Amino acid sequence: MANERPTWGSKIGFILAVSGSAIGLANIWRFPYLLGNYGGAAFFFIYLLFLFLLSFPILLTEIIIGKKTRANPSLAFKQLGGGVFWPTMGKISVLTGFIISSFYSVVAAWIVGYVVEALKMGITSFQHSQEAANHFSQLIQNPYWTVGYHFVFLVLCRLILLLGVRKGIEKWNEILIPLLFIILVAIVAKALTLEDAGTGLRFLLSPDWSVLTPVAFMTALGQAFFTLSLGQGTMVTYGSYLDEKASFIKSCGLVILMDTMVSFLMACAVFMIVFSEDVTTISSGPGLIFNTLPWIFSQIPGGSIVAILFFVLVLLAAITSQISAMEPPIAYLIDEKGFSRRWATFTVTFGAFALGIPSALSLNLLAGHTIYGANFLDCISFLGTNILIPLGGLGAVILVAWKVEFHKMMDCFSEEDKQIYLRYPKLTSIFLFCLKYVIPILIVLIFLNVLGVFKLLF
Ligand code: PHE
Repeated sequence: MANERPTWGSKIGFILAVSGSAIGLANIWRFPYLLGNYGGAAFFFIYLLFLFLLSFPILLTEIIIGKKTRANPSLAFKQLGGGVFWPTMGKISVLTGFIISSFYSVVAAWIVGYVVEALKMGITSFQHSQEAANHFSQLIQNPYWTVGYHFVFLVLCRLILLLGVRKGIEKWNEILIPLLFIILVAIVAKALTLEDAGTGLRFLLSPDWSVLTPVAFMTALGQAFFTLSLGQGTMVTYGSYLDEKASFIKSCGLVILMDTMVSFLMACAVFMIVFSEDVTTISSGPGLIFNTLPWIFSQIPGGSIVAILFFVLVLLAAITSQISAMEPPIAYLIDEKGFSRRWATFTVTFGAFALGIPSALSLNLLAGHTIYGANFLDCISFLGTNILIPLGGLGAVILVAWKVEFHKMMDCFSEEDKQIYLRYPKLTSIFLFCLKYVIPILIVLIFLNVLGVFKLLF
C-alpha cells in the first residue's frame, strides 16, 4: 500500500541530500578533537570498523523502511509492525528529529553569528587565545544575539523546506554540498602552506594504540552513529522519497565515503592550522571553533579570508543537516494530519524555535538554572543524542531483522540492488548477522556507557 508522495529527481540528488544530512557539525568540530585525543590513526581504524559493522547496516535498514512503505517514520513503523508498540516507536523517532532540530539550530545560530563577525573582520585581530575566548563569551552572554540568530537560522532553513523535496531539499543540497567541498579543499590547501603543517599531520596520522580505552571505543561508536543522522527518522523519510525503481545500496556506500572524507580532511586541516602556532592539544566543540581557531586565524597571513571561508563552510554543513532533522516531523504532519507543506513547515519551524529558546538562553539568562549540574542545552542534547537516537536505531533494526524479517523487505529492491545483494553471499550474511545480533548488542553497550558503567569499571 504505497502512499502518494514526492520523489527525488535524480540519483545524484538523493546522494547529495543524504550526504548533506550526514555531513554536519559532528564532522567539523567533534571528529578532529576525537582523532587528536584518542590516538590518531588508531581511533580512525576502529571508527571505520564501526561505520562498516553498525552504521552502514542501520543506514540501509532505515532507507529500506522508507522505500518500502513510502511513508513518514510514524506511518512506516505502523504499516510494518502494527499493534500499539511499533507506531509509538515511529512517533518517538519523529519526535527525536524535532528535538534534535531545536537544539542543533541553537548551536548553528552561533555559527551564523560568526559568519557575520568574520565578514565584519571582527574575529581576526586577537593577540592571545584568551582574547578570542572572551569575545565569544561576551557574545554568547547576550540573549538577543543567541535567540536572534536562532531565529534567523531557522527562517533560512524553512525557506528551503518550503520549496519542497525536489526544488528545496534536493536542489539546495546540489548547490551547497559541492560548494562545501570546494571550500574544504581551499582550506586544506592553505593549511598545507603553513609552517609546521607536516608536524600536525604526522601527529594526527601516527597511531597510538595505548590510548584506545573502552571509553574511546564507545566514543567511536557514538560518533559513527551520530554522523550518519541515524535513529531519528531522517533516513526513513529520505528513503521514502525514493522512486520505486531507484537503487540505493551503492549510493549509501558513496554517502559514507563522502562523510568520512569530510571528517578526515577537516581533521587534517585543523591539525595543520593548530600546530602552526605550537598548540599541541586541541579542544572539542565551541572551544575549538570559537576560541582556538579565531586566534590562530588572527596570526596567519590571509587569516581573515580563511576565517570567512571556514565559518561559511560550517554554516553550509549545519543548514543541510538541520533541514534533514526537520523533514521527518514535516512529513508526519503532511501524511497523517493533512497539513499543507506551507503549514507543516511553519509549524515545525515555529515549534523548533520555541523549544530552542531555553537552550538559546541556557548560557545567559538561564545560566543559573541547572538540572544535576547541567544546563538546559546540555540536558536536551544529552537526551536526544545519547538516548533517543540509539533507541530509534535499535527500533528500526529490531523491526526489520526480527519483526518483519529482512527477506520480506526485498520486494522493494531495484534489479541492481537485488543483484548486489545476491552477488556477495558472504557479505550478505555478515550484514544479516550484524543486523540481528551485533548491532542490538552494540546499542545496549551504548546505553551502558551513557549510564557511566564503563567509566566506573575502567
Ligand atoms: N549528521 C549530523 C552531523 O554530523 C548530525 C545530525 C544528526 C543531523 C541527526 C541531523 C539529524 O552533525
